[in-house]
Amino acid sequence: MCGIVGYKGKNNSIPVLLNGLKSLEYRGYDSAGIAFVKNKKVKIIKNIGRVSILESSIDSNEFSNIGIAHTRWATHGKVNKVNAHPHRVGKITLVHNGIIENYDEIKNKLSSYKLKSTTDTEILCAYIDYLYSKNHNMLEVLNKLKDDIKGSYALVIINDDEIDSLYAIRKNSPLIVASNDNEFYLASDMPALIKYTNKYMLLDNDEIVKISDNIYIYDKSLKEINKKILTFEGTSNDAMKCGYEHFMLKEIHEEPKVINNILSYYVTDNHFNENMPNFKNYKEIYFVGCGSAAYTADIAKKVFEKYVNVKCEVFLASEYRYQKHFYTKKTLVIFISQSGETADTLEALRITKNDGIDTLALVNVVGSSIAREADKTLYIKAGPEIAVATTKAFVAQYMLLTLIALKMSNNEKYLCDYKSLEKRLEKVFKIDYIKYANKIYKSNNAFFIGRQIDYGLCEEGSLKLKEISYINSSAFASGELKHGTISLIENKTPVISIITDEDISLKTISNIKEVHTRGAYSLFITTLDIDGDFYDDKIKVDNINFILNPILVVSVLQLLAYNVAKLKGEDIDKPRNLAKSVTVE
Ligand code: F6R
Repeated sequence: MCGIVGYKGKNNSIPVLLNGLKSLEYRGYDSAGIAFVKNKKVKIIKNIGRVSILESSIDSNEFSNIGIAHTRWATHGKVNKVNAHPHRVGKITLVHNGIIENYDEIKNKLSSYKLKSTTDTEILCAYIDYLYSKNHNMLEVLNKLKDDIKGSYALVIINDDEIDSLYAIRKNSPLIVASNDNEFYLASDMPALIKYTNKYMLLDNDEIVKISDNIYIYDKSLKEINKKILTFEGTSNDAMKCGYEHFMLKEIHEEPKVINNILSYYVTDNHFNENMPNFKNYKEIYFVGCGSAAYTADIAKKVFEKYVNVKCEVFLASEYRYQKHFYTKKTLVIFISQSGETADTLEALRITKNDGIDTLALVNVVGSSIAREADKTLYIKAGPEIAVATTKAFVAQYMLLTLIALKMSNNEKYLCDYKSLEKRLEKVFKIDYIKYANKIYKSNNAFFIGRQIDYGLCEEGSLKLKEISYINSSAFASGELKHGTISLIENKTPVISIITDEDISLKTISNIKEVHTRGAYSLFITTLDIDGDFYDDKIKVDNINFILNPILVVSVLQLLAYNVAKLKGEDIDKPRNLAKSVTVE
């Protein structure tokens, strides 16, 4: 969480930093701030709320060719101006993404400092100033952090004594460096820089960067090193809405493109190509992820069970970390993460590796921590996802999981069906969702019900609705309703039911009837030709097959949630209290 940017170059740093922050707002948007050097002095401006508020408080005539900036998702210390970054103590001004766990212990060493905020970051800032006051060598000071600081940090720093330079260091929080024609950039993520360059370098833990007349990178022994220059596959359109009202809507409409990206990378002429590994020697599969990443696994698990006939279990990463595991040498643990930085998923991966079990990561962000640390990584190729609520990455994760299952079961006959998804999704996009959203948006509660693979879809549909519309929504295995939850059904309570699996359709229909007769507004989403008097409205999508129907339905659920949130006038791309990359536990 939190996004950071740094710039040094011949041009004005302020628009570069503000543009960068705007595309990093998905990482947090509680407050934003900027520090730039003017007449050899550091000037700091910060504000509560969005980057646009910060922007409006900066005089458009300000010019500085060196600066740092931050957009915050509050962890330590309330959302207020004092706690906003950049922080400045003594000669040190910095922005920080991460969390300092042993801040109390560090604070005890700093009795001579009077701190103003309630953040762990200001303590770290004071500590760097304290170390620097004893040893006027910034490289050595920063190198000492790895021994003294517990937690995670990506830092970009200005030191008053080297006012024309920037320093940076990272540990377990992402940071990239880039340059273009004597302009130098630092950022949490590439979309912040795509306007200026598509070449970048990834920093490893504990590497230190100094930017003065050039970029200098040092390893743990303070030896200068050369880093590989990478090319970012995205384009500047990824960071723009391109005519769509929201990034979420744009990203849903990108799902056909994402599906084609995955297909063309892993499949050639309806056969798997060399990019698709075969995991057929594993007898048991664990899936680990958080939020939607775990729900995509809940759905894909049914595909593995049906076609690969392998034992599967899905774990929430935050629970997996603390529970006992009974894996064998034939267990493969698959970690699913769009950002590749989710703290719980990353820690779960480390624990599994430590236990000597094989790990596979399914990740979107290239070069992210999970992508780098897993034994094997497959990219989901969804492109940058800006809206906080995941949509196209969810589809991509599910799709790649199904391809892995088909490869493991040596089953290529379904591959040709994936091609039809594009035109079938176009039909899904044309549905008039507003008429259904109108019957939902005034409700305080909503329920999603389904069985088996459809229950997994309910979990995702319910999460999407609640996170962007703030309607309290729950998913239930439909057979469970009468064991308690049905008491919550009142007149017009929305109950969204899903049936894609014919085998259990009659059972689910009985459960829908139970709520419909009790006055619920029954919205029935299905791929099957089922009619009856158990629903008020029906959304029918194409029936492709067991594996691919979930993709069409999840897209319906995303668009339904989107339209409900839109009717409520909510901030769809940046729901309250959330951030896209959850790097705290
Ligand atoms: C919901 C959503 C979250 C993420 C979860 C995991 O719309 O986006 O539930 O799926 O925070 O994030 P990643 O996939 O980055 O590990």
